[in-house]
Amino acid sequence: MENNFVYPPPQHFKENALVKDDTLYRRAAADRLNFWAEMAEGLDWFKKWDKVLDESDAPYYRWFVGGKLNVSYNCLDRHVNSFRRNKAAVIFEAEDGSNVTLTYYQLFREVNRFAAVMQQMGVQKGDRVVIYMPMVPEAVMAMLACTRIGAIHSVVFSGFSTEALYKRINDLGAKLLVTVDGATRRGKFIPLKENAQQAIEACGCIEKILVVRRLGNIVQMQPGRDYWYHELVGQVPLYCSPAEMDAEDPLFLLYSSGTTGTPKGILHTTAGYLVGVYTTYRYVFDYHEEDIFWSTSDIGWITGQSYIVYGPLANGATIVIFEGTPDYPQRDRFWEIIEKYGVTVFYTAPTAISTFMQWGTAWVKKHDLSSLRLLGSVGEPIKPDTWLWFYEHIGQKRCPIVDTWWQTETGMIMISPLPGITALKPGSATLPFPGVEVQIVDDQGRPLPDNEAGHMVITSPWPAMLRTLYNDPERYEKAYWKQFPGCFYSGDGARRDEDGYIWILGRLDDVINVSGHRLSTAEIEGALVRHTGVAEAAVIGRAHEIKNQAVAAFVTLKEGVLGTEELREELKNLVVKEIGAIARPDDIYFTAELPKTRSGKIMRRLLRDIAEGRALGDTSTLLDAEVIANIKKSYEGEG
Ligand code: PRX
Repeated sequence: MENNFVYPPPQHFKENALVKDDTLYRRAAADRLNFWAEMAEGLDWFKKWDKVLDESDAPYYRWFVGGKLNVSYNCLDRHVNSFRRNKAAVIFEAEDGSNVTLTYYQLFREVNRFAAVMQQMGVQKGDRVVIYMPMVPEAVMAMLACTRIGAIHSVVFSGFSTEALYKRINDLGAKLLVTVDGATRRGKFIPLKENAQQAIEACGCIEKILVVRRLGNIVQMQPGRDYWYHELVGQVPLYCSPAEMDAEDPLFLLYSSGTTGTPKGILHTTAGYLVGVYTTYRYVFDYHEEDIFWSTSDIGWITGQSYIVYGPLANGATIVIFEGTPDYPQRDRFWEIIEKYGVTVFYTAPTAISTFMQWGTAWVKKHDLSSLRLLGSVGEPIKPDTWLWFYEHIGQKRCPIVDTWWQTETGMIMISPLPGITALKPGSATLPFPGVEVQIVDDQGRPLPDNEAGHMVITSPWPAMLRTLYNDPERYEKAYWKQFPGCFYSGDGARRDEDGYIWILGRLDDVINVSGHRLSTAEIEGALVRHTGVAEAAVIGRAHEIKNQAVAAFVTLKEGVLGTEELREELKNLVVKEIGAIARPDDIYFTAELPKTRSGKIMRRLLRDIAEGRALGDTSTLLDAEVIANIKKSYEGEG
């Protein structure tokens, strides 16, 4: 990982940057809470807060106590009442290349009516609304509409399977589901409403489905339960007044994988979250009024929530929303979009960049990327050679790269360069954002000296932090606050170098990261053991050139069941059905036994060593050394 090159901000960038010196760091270091209070002044409040942070019930921290505000008001109304009224808010590029631009005024109108429709359907403050939609502007409208009336949204990635959707709806006890008739992916039709319907019929809590017409395909509508958005929208008022929300009212829930088979419902609340994403969007992406900002994430992930929707819109930025994929119809789709709209800031994931590297620069060279001025990376550690390719071929050596480390739990970017002042080291996320405090500690929680790898913890609360896990405060405390008391446990390993730069090493727990998507090994194992022929399964993430990690499963079969090629396919398909295509295992190894410790824990580390073809690590706690030898043999046999 060591790289001796350092990239200071280019002079032209520095001259025009929003942050030109270390004032923000100094202000935050002098008085962290006052710093966040100053940042909060950038939002519009119905009532100012009484206290910045209340720690009396830690780890249930409360921010901007007593403050009242509305998120959609901050993302829309205040811009409509300013010179931004006719500025583009959303540029939407559909998969088929057609496009729509919505000004702040138009988006404001649409969100008001969307909110009024939801209200008319009986949605009230505090109700949970599940949004299961592709990347279309209506998905953003649905989110903002929820915030307008105080409903709590939970966006479920539209690539998740019916079963995965079912699990989430059930945990939430959601009342309304918003979806579309159908979606397309690489030209292929996906019956989203039909998939969603199967999930809700199994749940029982959803009272109504609101269907946005996207493709015009025929769908079965159940009277009294299913409603077409376009039929209701003509009957509601044009204006829906924004609810006065308490700073700590829940804003949204987003499910993310943890170390067990049940996904965690991560809860974010109103004021702290908005202050966090508003501030980090502004300074990390060096916000300029004329920017066209494109984050290639999906709104089903936290990157989409924070840096497609809330961070940019709270600042009055122009965002690009793209429905499709980078290789459809051709492998230059992203570069075509950058050229078409003059994208200035481009935020994507290392997996995507590695894929582009593999596709070759000819695709890139076909397009004019001169509008770009800043690049960003998120989701996985970026390898120095990937960083350099991004820098040279996409940024054309003109654009700084902000490598941003954060999580669904943190809500906002936590470690990142400030592009006008931070000298970049390829592969390092560089420094904690002002007001964020990070430490690298050993297993006992003792701070480690420079360059020693350990657990990365966050030592003080930050505004956009998760507040709890929905319906499971015990798990919230255990997963994040018990390991190192008083500190937030990130689950990531890291080291800090002699310049204070942080190098993220990846997850230290049983969470794996495939193409920037977080997956739980336990959840995939749970899917595999549903097969009647499977006795036991152990899943690991093995290193993968493009995807960061690939899913590898070691499976033991019940007596008499044969490990055939057909069964292997069947198991892979079962995982897709239970979770979604992103969890599909690359490798399935049939093995007579799994390596376990004396206490019965599966030794995943050893399986990783085998799958990555390394010499075996410490096997001293292994119950039966022969098991490993056998697995190794069968693995080598299968090549
Ligand atoms: O392991 C880290 C990795 O992604 C995890 C968080 O995943 P998720 O909650 O899905 O959010 C992803 C988008 C914010 C982290 O625990 N990760 C995220 N960003 C980086 C990263 N690893 C290295 N470098 C990053 N910049």
